[in-house]
Amino acid sequence: MVRAIVGTQFGDEGKGRAIEFLAPNAQVIARYQGGANAGHTIHINEESIIFHLVPSGIIYPHTLCIIGNGVALDPAELIKEIEVLKEKKVSVEGRLFISPYAHVVMPYHKMSDDIRGNLGTTKRGIGPCYEDKYARRGIRVADLLSPKILEEKLRHNFLIHQLTDKSFNLEFNSIYEQYLTFGNILQPFIADTSLLLNRWIDEGKEVLLEGAQGLLLDIDHGTYPFVTSSNPHSGGASIGLGISPTRIDEVIGITKAYTTRVGKGPLPTRLPSEIEEKVREQGKEYGATTGRPRRCGWLDVPLLRRALMLNDIKRIILTKFDVLDELSEIKICKEYKNMSTEWYANFEDLEPVYEVLPGWKSSTQNIRKYEDLPVNARRYIKRISELLEVSIIAVFVGPQKEATIGL
Ligand code: GDP
Ligand code: IMO
Ligand code: MG
Repeated sequence: MVRAIVGTQFGDEGKGRAIEFLAPNAQVIARYQGGANAGHTIHINEESIIFHLVPSGIIYPHTLCIIGNGVALDPAELIKEIEVLKEKKVSVEGRLFISPYAHVVMPYHKMSDDIRGNLGTTKRGIGPCYEDKYARRGIRVADLLSPKILEEKLRHNFLIHQLTDKSFNLEFNSIYEQYLTFGNILQPFIADTSLLLNRWIDEGKEVLLEGAQGLLLDIDHGTYPFVTSSNPHSGGASIGLGISPTRIDEVIGITKAYTTRVGKGPLPTRLPSEIEEKVREQGKEYGATTGRPRRCGWLDVPLLRRALMLNDIKRIILTKFDVLDELSEIKICKEYKNMSTEWYANFEDLEPVYEVLPGWKSSTQNIRKYEDLPVNARRYIKRISELLEVSIIAVFVGPQKEATIGL
């Protein structure tokens, strides 16, 4: 079976933790889009590991991991991540496969990313890297192995971006040498990942496709222009890995029990500041990549229903449920009062209509069975399932792997 694991909100839903939960039964984990803007956290013992480019499933020694052609790959970040994994005794040799067709994030991408801060990006060079990809001048992983091609492409890009040898403190020769070195370091990992993945699917291996970001940050389906520059949508997995859409058997949605958003852009269900602070502290809602505080909101059913419809999601994992433990009441946005069309013209103007449910005011962190949850907690879960018309396969009640209630 091939399952895509897709964030249904604005990213940071707990996809890393969901992969950690699902990966014991999988042999292959593949990242298909985004880059080091992603931060997927898992906790092992008292330590947390944040994955930016390497699929989170790498922590299990039995898995094979792919970084697909759709990823915007920052070699400096990737090499750092591989080093950190080695320090943690996670070996990547023979288990990590990188597509030669993935586009490479260059220093000038990071330096020009959202230079005025209007979009509130992570400044990881993602937008500018994909811009070069679609302008058909991007440097790909394969180019790092070919000194002549790299030199030609880099010169062309210096010209296009109007970079002189000294602009942005970038010096042609040092970038050129540095990226050739990156190529040498990464060479053992470069492989025809599409061929491998198709073969592994033919062999009947269990495969997880690890999405980054979330549907509402999708370049086509998100809250444009406050989105990322790729397709977190499950369709991105087909393109970003080189497998037919017919290969994907199921899309599993990862949904936080409330909403968060880091960076700019609308968040129609934003909490009043007092509750937001409580939730932010309880949920440690600070960006895993940039450390920025995340804005927090109530669960947004209309936007979620759209995310589920677009991905044909029938099953979700509900995460960070315990973060709501201390609230005396919990709201769910059921619909928007002032929608004049079925499609969203301006997310900023939406006026949420809330259903109010009583809180449960007790800790769920040590609960492992659905029946043992307080009645109001069960009521909230049931209501989410009803409103979204999905089944919930697990509820996460803490950052640790064990803090899981299977349903
Ligand atoms: P991702 O980008 O979707 O993988 O999510 P992040 O790792 O950026 O953010 C999720 C954060 O919530 C991480 O710090 C996780 O360790 C943490 N987390 C995940 N699930 C739970 C949960 O059920 N309860 C709590 N309290 N924290 C969780
Ligand atoms: P994971 O995979 C949450 C946000 C940024 C910004 C917008 C565009 O951890 O869920 P970009 O750097 O991509 O051009 O920024 O998208 N953003 C994320 N928010 N989780 C992420 O990834 C994100 N990746 C980007 O904050 O608002
Ligand atoms: Mg994250």
